[in-house]
Amino acid sequence: MTYIHPAARFSNPANVTIGPHCAIGKCHFYALGEIVVGERSIIGDDVFLCTGSHDIYADDFHLTIKPIIIGSGVWIATGGTILPGVHIGAGAVVGAKAVVSRDVPAGAVVVGNPAQVVKTGRPIPSFDPITLGSIDVETSIRRLRAAVMGTDS
Ligand SMILES: CC(C)(COP(=O)(O)OP(=O)(O)OC[C@H]1O[C@@H](n2cnc3c(N)ncnc32)[C@H](O)[C@@H]1OP(=O)(O)O)[C@@H](O)C(=O)NCCC(=O)NCCS
Repeated sequence: MTYIHPAARFSNPANVTIGPHCAIGKCHFYALGEIVVGERSIIGDDVFLCTGSHDIYADDFHLTIKPIIIGSGVWIATGGTILPGVHIGAGAVVGAKAVVSRDVPAGAVVVGNPAQVVKTGRPIPSFDPITLGSIDVETSIRRLRAAVMGTDS
């Protein structure tokens, strides 16, 4: 199963392919061109996947479209922007608010604007992002409340 947040936006959904066991947040697939997401990948809230731009040197400012390919086991954290033509390799992580203008190698962690590699060698995770939603929130809240109140959890 793949989870897609009800408020996720898909411009041209026919251009979007998402693999199994992905978790898709309240993000925007601006799919003028093709967007492909592998399996077990997580796309956070406020992520913008942008396949369209303009030829700023042409008199007619014509539209340019390039696909975005996101590998398996990728995490694009909150607020990331992925620009046209970018390929994000398997297991890579895009840090919060990063602007990714160039390909990201498999297993790399990139942050910033423009996104730069800060770490390499992250293995492709084997967990299922869908089960993350079933993290024991009640236990966490109970422990937090106990810590605040100074009582046993
Ligand atoms: C990228 C991320 C996963 C951290 O990965 P990490 O391997 O633990 O990285 P570190 O914390 O060791 O940071 C490595 C470097 O990148 C910088 N960095 C980390 N995240 C960054 C970000 N989002 N933007 C800019 N710089 C960032 C750190 O300051 C550090 O820089 P330094 O080496 O000069 O001190 C994390 O910072 C991040 O962005 N998380 C997303 C949070 C989020 O979206 N949460 C919502 C869903 S739960």
